[in-house]
Amino acid sequence: MPLWWGKQQVFENKAKISAVALLFCSQAFANDSVDVLHWWTSTSERGAVRFLQSKLLEDKIEWRDAAIPGGGGIGAMRVLKSRVLAGKQPAVAQLIGPAIAEWADLGLILELDNVAKNNAWPKTLSPTVNELLLHRGHTVAAPLGVHRINNLYYNAKLFRELGIAEPKTMDDFKRAALRLSAANITPLGQSTEAWQVATLFETLVLMEGGPAFYRDVFVRRNANAYLDPKFARALNRLRQMRAYTAYASNKSQRELSWTDIAQQFANGQVGMVIMGDWFKGELLTMGQKLEQQFACTTVPNTQNYHLYSIDSFVMFSGDYSQQTAQEKVAQLMVSPAIQQGYNRIKGSVSVRRDLDQKALAAMDRCAQSSWQTFNRGKAMQAPSLVHRMAADEKFKDAMVAQIQKFYLDDSISVQENQQRMAAMVRALNIQEGNTEQ
Ligand code: BGC
Repeated sequence: MPLWWGKQQVFENKAKISAVALLFCSQAFANDSVDVLHWWTSTSERGAVRFLQSKLLEDKIEWRDAAIPGGGGIGAMRVLKSRVLAGKQPAVAQLIGPAIAEWADLGLILELDNVAKNNAWPKTLSPTVNELLLHRGHTVAAPLGVHRINNLYYNAKLFRELGIAEPKTMDDFKRAALRLSAANITPLGQSTEAWQVATLFETLVLMEGGPAFYRDVFVRRNANAYLDPKFARALNRLRQMRAYTAYASNKSQRELSWTDIAQQFANGQVGMVIMGDWFKGELLTMGQKLEQQFACTTVPNTQNYHLYSIDSFVMFSGDYSQQTAQEKVAQLMVSPAIQQGYNRIKGSVSVRRDLDQKALAAMDRCAQSSWQTFNRGKAMQAPSLVHRMAADEKFKDAMVAQIQKFYLDDSISVQENQQRMAAMVRALNIQEGNTEQ
């Protein structure tokens, strides 16, 4: 520095140097940048994304966000299709369940075998998670979290005030609903949106039939199972549940998003909600205190079961120019530090089965129950239809639409609906060469 420099000049120069350094740093910070398409747009979902972004940046990878609104990913799947058709596929995309295989069949997805092998995924991941990532013997996706769907959330403060105990059976649930109603509180927060109605319904199918029956209906697509009394009972239950919702007194209400329902629940407008545990993530992000303001348990008669949805991401191979960064993203997603931090925000649980006592103790009781039940094995697990674990998109969309129709239209009897769904299943099975009748 020349001796003639005054203080002011030194200061200005320092400022310039820091600005340049900052610019240089942010460029140097991210050696690679990946475009990530997903459907996480709620406050907690965005929080989970920000966490991932910061973790990837530590490894000099910039996550460029392409978030498509729409709970359950309906919009995101459409956008993904059109982007791929236009030759503008993202480097990384949220893709879950059998859809992974559908895309991998087209030869567009990067194989992550080296990442899986070097990080011992077959040993460290829960077997169901690992199977989901495989396509023709190759690992084609990276998992992030296991969501449980069969959860019952209740307003713990209100329950205490009204002297209502945590519902363990359906009778308890009914008593709680009546007590809430008498206090002018809508017992069950529930949207009429198709995927949300069907999310409730699939939980009821599990409640009435257990995992084996559930698989018969939604995975094996046995049309006769739709005519089974257990299926009739689940449909009846759906109508009973509807009687506890705002829809019972106001049929013209608009379709609420799941975050609207979270808002109603946090405001004390509704007393209970049945929803996937992303709902817990959202409540926590809203500042709601678990056990003090709200509590979670499993839906009655499903405590030993785990209705799951596993979030995962695939990497589009393109011209392979981003392979190194993509492999790094996959590896980081499964790392213990990201698993712990991400799942805490998101409401889900780790995809790893090698959690130690300390990691388990750091989880809340619903997360512990979710992780333990899931890791008890397949007999306890049921793959979510609505959240893309059980069937292809076409089958899922057809079922979800019919369940919503039944929910909204009283002129469709339970028996009629069973017949309709059985006929739809037969037709779809024939179209797709599924030999199940
Ligand atoms: C996804 C969750 C997401 C939820 C609501 C589910 O299908 O698995 O990650 O939070 O939809 O959008």
